[in-house]
Amino acid sequence: MSTPIALTTTYLGLRLAHPFMVGASPLAFDLDSVKRLEDGGSSAIVLHSLFEEQISLALSGRIHQMDPFEKQFAGALAGYPEHYALSPDGYLEHIRKVKAAVGVPVIASLNGMTPETWLQFAVRIDQAGADALELNMYAVATDPGEIGAVIERDLRNVVFELKHHLRLPIAVKMTPFFTAFADVAHQLDRAGADGLVMFNRFYQPDIDIDRMAAVPRLELSTNEELLLRLRWTALLHSQLRCSLAITGGVATPADGIKAILAGADAVQMVSAILRHGPAYFSKMRDGLLRWMESKEVTSLDEVRGRIDGSTADADVVERANYLRTLQSWRPALEDEPRRR
Ligand SMILES: Cc1cc2nc3c(=O)[nH]c(=O)nc-3n(C[C@H](O)[C@H](O)[C@H](O)COP(=O)(O)O)c2cc1C
Repeated sequence: MSTPIALTTTYLGLRLAHPFMVGASPLAFDLDSVKRLEDGGSSAIVLHSLFEEQISLALSGRIHQMDPFEKQFAGALAGYPEHYALSPDGYLEHIRKVKAAVGVPVIASLNGMTPETWLQFAVRIDQAGADALELNMYAVATDPGEIGAVIERDLRNVVFELKHHLRLPIAVKMTPFFTAFADVAHQLDRAGADGLVMFNRFYQPDIDIDRMAAVPRLELSTNEELLLRLRWTALLHSQLRCSLAITGGVATPADGIKAILAGADAVQMVSAILRHGPAYFSKMRDGLLRWMESKEVTSLDEVRGRIDGSTADADVVERANYLRTLQSWRPALEDEPRRR
């Protein structure tokens, strides 16, 4: 009799049936969709984010110390949404309901840019019964007086503080835009982060050339975005104590397998699920199973991190890869056929 194949993985200390789960998004706004995600095969549910701005508005009537009713702040605050799917209290209630409705782990998400009072809300998320918390410190450092090392220190302190006060595990959803990402990842690992989620997508407005104006643009991802995630996961996987999850550009079962080979413990998906529906998780799981059968592998531990980029001279290897890639390109400079 052949040995059964185990797809199980451990992420943030949580035992999961397989690595593929829905990422933070409106997909988990209501209970019906959450149940459909579980039925479709998502191995955990990451809820959409509760934002710092919502919490500070509910607690103090202000957003980043600014009163939305004061004229002088109208411009700065004009871009904020007027309505959110759930109030902060509604979010806590949602956690309780989702926990009662599904059997898979439920990961809440807090999203903010300053280490202020909103982080105290994390304690209430913990009390509401979430199995883990994903922290998304999405911020774009546009102030030329803001120093990179200070941003990194603040991030580390947030993790350190939260770990001190919370019982539940914490994952930090990361941006790749640090000068020395490996160092930041190590710092967060040492501060006690239970996992890193790589990477946040950075939503950039496009420019409408007719109106000559910046226009918001949110496009679903393609797997062109995956390579950056694979590279950093392969570089860091064997060096860090904490779990690693990949988010961004996982579109097919082959992409999910690549994430595991690079060293991911979990794989989060949003765009592909918005395109194909919740049952796509079963396709991901079946694709992984068939691939493991074809490679005669019986557990993910046998293959996770097989592509290990963390050699002693990783920086030199990176440079060599860069040179070889550029040199391998042979231009074929054909002009387009001329129209008569
Ligand atoms: C419509 C939409 C809403 C999202 N909302 C959140 C959110 O509330 N919090 C968060 O951390 N990420 C949010 N994300 C980012 C996703 O969790 C994910 O990291 C990103 O879409 C990359 O994964 P993908 O390539 O599988 O789409 C959102 C993405 C989309 C498309």
